[in-house]
Amino acid sequence: MKHLLKMADLTKQEIIEILNLADQLKYELKHGIPHNHLKGKTLGMIFRKASTRTRVSFETGMYQLGGYPLFLSSEDMQIVRGEPVCDTARTLSRYLNGLMIRTYDQQEAEELAEYCSIPVINGLTDYAHPCQVLADLMTVREMKGSFDGLKMCYIGDGDNMANSLIRGFLTVGMTVSAACPEKYRPAEDVLKFAEETGRFELTTSPEKAAEGADVVITDVWASMGKESEIEQRRKDFAGYQVNSHIMSLAKPDAMVMHCLPAHREEEITSEVFEAHADEIFEETENRLHAQKAVMVKLMA
Ligand code: CP
Ligand code: NVA
Repeated sequence: MKHLLKMADLTKQEIIEILNLADQLKYELKHGIPHNHLKGKTLGMIFRKASTRTRVSFETGMYQLGGYPLFLSSEDMQIVRGEPVCDTARTLSRYLNGLMIRTYDQQEAEELAEYCSIPVINGLTDYAHPCQVLADLMTVREMKGSFDGLKMCYIGDGDNMANSLIRGFLTVGMTVSAACPEKYRPAEDVLKFAEETGRFELTTSPEKAAEGADVVITDVWASMGKESEIEQRRKDFAGYQVNSHIMSLAKPDAMVMHCLPAHREEEITSEVFEAHADEIFEETENRLHAQKAVMVKLMA
């Protein structure tokens, strides 16, 4: 693994190795055991979109590993004035040891990686959110003990989260169901991979998808960049909500996860959110540990 741009970049073995290291780093942090694997190294972080968790967990994680993070708002970079991605990539490669990017177009992250001589990490694009899904997998394994025989159900937009969840959870061997409105299906390449596993179901029925699920996951109806579509999306996604009825169809001990930020009473009710807040905020915390593991694997 040279870069982390999407879940398809990782084999099952590589995912397990990242999660094992993440568990170890979590233990070391909690017990005050130093883990300065990236002493003297720097990570640039380009943001073209807002962020709370990704920015703070990468910055803190880099500090805890003995390195130094640089927050680079795209608004303050020459990239907004038209400097080509290929020149930005070759410039930043001369200063930094790793680069994270949060942007719109997956192609921009791919092009950055093509021209960078340092590892590039996708901190979210419209197509993928691999760092989030590594944290989600870590949380499931931590809370359920293993992935064996488990079913994950995703309800909502066929967005970056859906694409990465479907790919990631199938790769570790779980069964996956996804309920998405017809107009909002996940990416075709993800669906092709998923269908070939024989462990995947795509439906327009949230009830059907939730049946017997061990893990229920949802995401916002309008991702960053789609805010202007929210009125139409509220109509299109009516019924695609994780609520007590949906949870009554899942296993009695089913977990609920959400990458956050959440829109209560849209994709998830307050009731379900608060009943599963321990899982959701463990998932949030695990962003830190999972990304530290990714940075160590790529940059140490
Ligand atoms: N889940 C997630 O990526 O959160 P932020 O947008 O706050 O980084
Ligand atoms: N799908 C959401 C995820 C936010 C972490 C978005 O792209 O806005």
